[in-house]
Amino acid sequence: MGTEKHVIRGACVSDARDMHELHARAVDAFCRGHYNDDQMKALLIGRTPEGYLPVIERDEMFVMESDGRMVGFGHATVGEVQALFVDPDQTGRGVGGALLRHAIELAARGHEGPIQLTSTLNAVGFYRAHGFVELEPTELNKHGVALPFVLMEQTRPVALDAYDSMAEAYAAEIEKNPRSIYYERPALLGLLPDVSGRRVLDAGCGPGVMVEWFLTQGADVVGVDGSANMLKLAEQRVGEAPALHVADLEQPMPFLADSSFDVILSSGTLGYIRDWLALFREFSRVLRPGGCVVFSVGHPCSEYTLNETDDYFSTELREYTWRGLGAPIVVPCYRRPFSHMIDAIVRAGFSVERMVEPVPTKEFAEVKPEEYAELMRRPRVLCARVRKPANGA
Ligand SMILES: C[S@@+](CC[C@H](N)C(=O)[O-])C[C@H]1O[C@@H](n2cnc3c(N)ncnc32)[C@H](O)[C@@H]1O
Repeated sequence: MGTEKHVIRGACVSDARDMHELHARAVDAFCRGHYNDDQMKALLIGRTPEGYLPVIERDEMFVMESDGRMVGFGHATVGEVQALFVDPDQTGRGVGGALLRHAIELAARGHEGPIQLTSTLNAVGFYRAHGFVELEPTELNKHGVALPFVLMEQTRPVALDAYDSMAEAYAAEIEKNPRSIYYERPALLGLLPDVSGRRVLDAGCGPGVMVEWFLTQGADVVGVDGSANMLKLAEQRVGEAPALHVADLEQPMPFLADSSFDVILSSGTLGYIRDWLALFREFSRVLRPGGCVVFSVGHPCSEYTLNETDDYFSTELREYTWRGLGAPIVVPCYRRPFSHMIDAIVRAGFSVERMVEPVPTKEFAEVKPEEYAELMRRPRVLCARVRKPANGA
């Protein structure tokens, strides 16, 4: 979604007429086939442009424009995405995803706990693709007609609040932080195969630095991240081309087809995932036979010694306080023993092809000599390439 062309702004009173018209066209285009004729009428009956005004005045609605023309709008309140409407002529252009990310960001302000929404039957797959799960079917009665909907909820990654709130600062820092550019990234690049013409999933893509790199390499890349704010920044960086999904990696990703990727990268994200076995099984499902996962994670030795823990052998949720990205921020993260990592990977059917305990490059020494010396003696990151068998077992 290019920022020059697409803009999301708060709705104003003068938008009401266009919203009314777009709403009717969207319902007609997307809901037909899922609701009968009586239900279709009930979905729209009694609506007027004036009906939007109280909600606009409460600052709960927002509009997306492309070259000055309204292409969609949405409505969010605390904890809830109330509605999204996309111009039917704009489908497949990332408008719905961008509106949803904005709606989630608004709904999450001042709210703890999952974000909920009530989906029309046609939109359930779209919301699934953005990390929502079905809670239960529900029914609304409008003008005497029973309308079926589905109550859905977005699951919450443990570190979501932290990453949502520091997204911009993180994105700026990652460009220049020596630990990223002279330490972790060179190790990951050394493990990645040639991705030109390959389909790549960046699992926990954050602000999209590697999504951008994959595009420059000629890969067809899909990004997934739990933080809508991070994905907004990724979108600003890479534009419309790659599909970006807000989704919790603790959950299945039904929006990704079986055997559809050659390579998965997960850089700095697996520490936030409790259930590695479920995730690596999901990675295996979406990878083609012979495909690989390349990842980096906090080194189990340093994670153990940094934490005051009595029990190396358990997987435990710890809290780290990050400084240097504005106000100190508490980031929850799982610490786990090395054997738990390997067990999950092997039980999910992967074989470990390379395992690297990287050391910094020489450039690191020029900018931060003391930290360089420290990293030459103490590991902080573990990187690996693991492969799904070519026979698909
Ligand atoms: C350290 S950042 C790494 C971002 C990016 N891979 C990079 O190297 O710059 C970790 C990322 O994982 C995402 N994340 C954490 N837990 C997640 C989860 N359960 N599901 C999806 N994304 C998650 C965060 O939102 C954040 O963008």
